[in-house]
Amino acid sequence: MTWLQSALLPAGPQAARIAALWPPFFWGSVVIWLLVMGALLYGAFRRRRAAPGERAMARSVGAASAGTIVMLFALLALDLAVGRALTLPPEPAAVIEVTGRQWWWEVEYADSVPSRRVTTANEIHVPVGRPVLIRLSSSDVIHSLWVPSLAGKKDLIPGHRTSLWLQADTPGVYRGQCAEFCGVQHAKMALLVIAEPPERYRTWLARQREPAAPPADSLARRGLAVFLGSSCVLCHAIAGTPAASRMGPDLTHLASRRTLAAGSLPNRRGALAGWIADPQRIKPGSRMPPNPLGPGDLRALLAYLEGLR
Ligand code: CUA
Repeated sequence: MTWLQSALLPAGPQAARIAALWPPFFWGSVVIWLLVMGALLYGAFRRRRAAPGERAMARSVGAASAGTIVMLFALLALDLAVGRALTLPPEPAAVIEVTGRQWWWEVEYADSVPSRRVTTANEIHVPVGRPVLIRLSSSDVIHSLWVPSLAGKKDLIPGHRTSLWLQADTPGVYRGQCAEFCGVQHAKMALLVIAEPPERYRTWLARQREPAAPPADSLARRGLAVFLGSSCVLCHAIAGTPAASRMGPDLTHLASRRTLAAGSLPNRRGALAGWIADPQRIKPGSRMPPNPLGPGDLRALLAYLEGLR
């Protein structure tokens, strides 16, 4: 399935309203540019004999200024109308807390029962055709969430809560990324919004609530031991095991995600092995240190992680 990422290909009501601003802004600017260029050419090439008087000049300048003001106010009115239309819907289908981190997205599905909360990373699942409220915050610097096919940009500011809502009207995968420079790996801070029919969304959510699958065989059991015995546990959580740190992405259902390292790599065995062995080669400056594991340990760890569906 292709990943959509274009503000001009809206897939939901919020993005559609924003996309509707494009024709008036674009064609309005084209008309103004043509008028200005026309006036410039006329001024440059007309005969010098009939120099306009003071009053004629004042009239032209006045008319041009008035035209500019009218045009700017018209565009401002359009902009405000769209801004008003984007206020939060009354009844969101889900409340999702997204926290910006250097350089990944922590995603938590709110629930009044703490044990039913779901924590994941770099992937937001939403039910198709239903508005979803996204609460934004940051744990370090200012980031900005932008999923162009679904909504406008919104900043994530440390110590300050912002929110936006979005709705996907067609099932699909919508790519988004950080839109505010936040450090050396700003460009590798992407995420996916996956819009599914409500039934499939509920199944996904129920699955994510479960603790991690226990290791399926002896190789995976060794992998779990490698995980718990190495520095992985200092940063990652896997529900159902003693690993509970929230410094890095939650790995409870790592294998169910489409990408690794915030959209930098496909979630496949080779990419995962390369990422674990030396993240600094793929995302220099990221918080994850290199992990010099022996080949047997690495293979066991991969077998375990691949079972975390
Ligand atoms: Cu986060 Cu740029």
